[in-house]
Amino acid sequence: MNYEHIYKPGEPGHPTFLVLHGTGGTEKDLVPLVNYIDSKAGILSVRGDVLENGMNRFFRRLAEGIFDKEDLEKRTHTLYDFLQSASENYKFDKTNVIALGYSNGANIAASMLYFYEDAFKGAILHHPMTPFEEREMKTSDALPVFIGAGNNDPICPPENTRLLISQLENVGSNVTTEWGNAGHSLTQNELDAAKNWYNKQFS
Ligand code: MLT
Repeated sequence: MNYEHIYKPGEPGHPTFLVLHGTGGTEKDLVPLVNYIDSKAGILSVRGDVLENGMNRFFRRLAEGIFDKEDLEKRTHTLYDFLQSASENYKFDKTNVIALGYSNGANIAASMLYFYEDAFKGAILHHPMTPFEEREMKTSDALPVFIGAGNNDPICPPENTRLLISQLENVGSNVTTEWGNAGHSLTQNELDAAKNWYNKQFS
């Protein structure tokens, strides 16, 4: 499986970001965020391969906030396989990958943590929801995760994001959260908090 994507190699010692846009976005959207966080990092930014009324997504949903979990599981494996083969083709270190996703992209990045222990060295999830309420995560102990969320987010309800946080904490992940009041949109405050978190964890 190949996805439309952008690849930029990183400088030695810097991670590669797997970048995953929100519903209706493209692989170009979040590249400036990575450059803001670490301009020397590598970038593998992927375009979702599901079309919903012309909008790119990473998996199907049955209604807003109601995921087609079978489709999500299948596409989570496909994305993981793509990440592995991209690391071979582009020769980046697959043990030094940080996920950066927004909304639908954050949700498939989170989904990866239920199936793989070794997908990421860290994750930045902007406005995520739990993809699986009932399932236990597989991710490794003490995975550093940054979550930016909105107290008034109408698309990713705060209680749902809190469930994801507790699922992560239950398997020992090291979660840092930044709650804002601006609904579903990304704020400068949230981006600054993600950058500070990255600098503390990885530089
Ligand atoms: C999803 O479908 O992943 C969430 O509802 C967020 C979004 O609208 O992208």
